[in-house]
Amino acid sequence: MQNANRQIRLIARPDGLAGPEHFDETTEPVRQPDTGEVLLETLLLSIDPAMRVWMNEDPGYVPPIQLGSVMRAGGIARVVESRIDGLAPGDLVQGRLGWQTHPTLSGEGLHKLDLTMGDAEAWIGPLGTSALTAYFGMTAVANVKPGDTVVVSGAAGAVGQIAAQVGTLNHCRVIGIAGGAEKCAMLRDSLGLDAAIDYKAATDLSADIRQAAPNGVDVYFDNVGGPTLDAALENMATLGRIAICGRISQTAAAELYGVKNMGLAIGKRLRVQGFIVSDFNARYGEARAWLAGELKAGRLQQRLHILDGLEHAPSGLRMLFEGGNTGKLAIRVAT
Ligand SMILES: NC(=O)c1ccc[n+]([C@@H]2O[C@H](COP(=O)([O-])OP(=O)(O)OC[C@H]3O[C@@H](n4cnc5c(N)ncnc54)[C@H](OP(=O)(O)O)[C@@H]3O)[C@@H](O)[C@H]2O)c1
Repeated sequence: MQNANRQIRLIARPDGLAGPEHFDETTEPVRQPDTGEVLLETLLLSIDPAMRVWMNEDPGYVPPIQLGSVMRAGGIARVVESRIDGLAPGDLVQGRLGWQTHPTLSGEGLHKLDLTMGDAEAWIGPLGTSALTAYFGMTAVANVKPGDTVVVSGAAGAVGQIAAQVGTLNHCRVIGIAGGAEKCAMLRDSLGLDAAIDYKAATDLSADIRQAAPNGVDVYFDNVGGPTLDAALENMATLGRIAICGRISQTAAAELYGVKNMGLAIGKRLRVQGFIVSDFNARYGEARAWLAGELKAGRLQQRLHILDGLEHAPSGLRMLFEGGNTGKLAIRVAT
């Protein structure tokens, strides 16, 4: 039985990008569970852009991570020992595990996985939180309808790949925006998008969107903010909807980009709505049933980008901000 818990702790707050220099690895003895607790073995950890925001002194709508604490992270783990009714050794759970190999946690916030819906990798990817975000952003926030022309930014990433396919599966014309020819080819050839725009190669992103969507954009699903949001605003159709999911271009930026085209929302009668996935937690079951059904039918796919070893978590977090990942980025801690 394993008796060492490897942990990665936050030791410094970054100004710009986060990286290994902001973390330290420590090892503690594994703690046996008390009543109401479980000892877990971490299998997979999700790496998310929001983690960079949580490292700030004032992250906004969640509490900051205290310096010296284990880095906060969601993931999938196997139950090793349980003092909770309903959880037994060998069960897989999803929860806020943190960057550690053997957390001992209370049962609150742990969700036992239904492995008939998908395996651990499916639960970190197409049934996980980023997929729920895509589902609710497209359906409940952007109210996507058959025949809509949809633009998704960050389209080759975790949320973006699923958002784009929620569009194609709802019979929309879907245009993805991503960085690099390879990501754009994957969006067209593997995910079946109608068009993909490489924003890194674009000299005039707004003109490229206009060419791909000459009749205007009904839904813009925004993962990146900044100048991409401005280019989308210029191309929205009257009564278009914009779901503000994220703004990764601004998260670690030295200087914030001032969006110039919000005034166009008036004449075009746009609806612009931000959202947090947990706004919809009462409806996660509905979303997972749809996602699992589409996965099983072979109509939905998600590329996972997995790094092996807990020690890669800090560099993995940086990768998100440099476009190093294609699809859902996760760390495999154990099998
Ligand atoms: N509202 C919510 O509840 C919620 C929940 C989850 C995630 N989110 C947000 O959703 C967005 C996507 O998250 P994710 O987990 O799916 O990450 P991801 O898309 O898998 O990874 C981040 C991607 O962002 C792109 N990127 C990085 N810097 C950029 C820049 N300066 N301009 C444009 N694109 C840039 C990169 O792709 P390229 O190579 O294409 O540049 C990178 O691969 C994030 O903004 C995140 O905060 C929101």
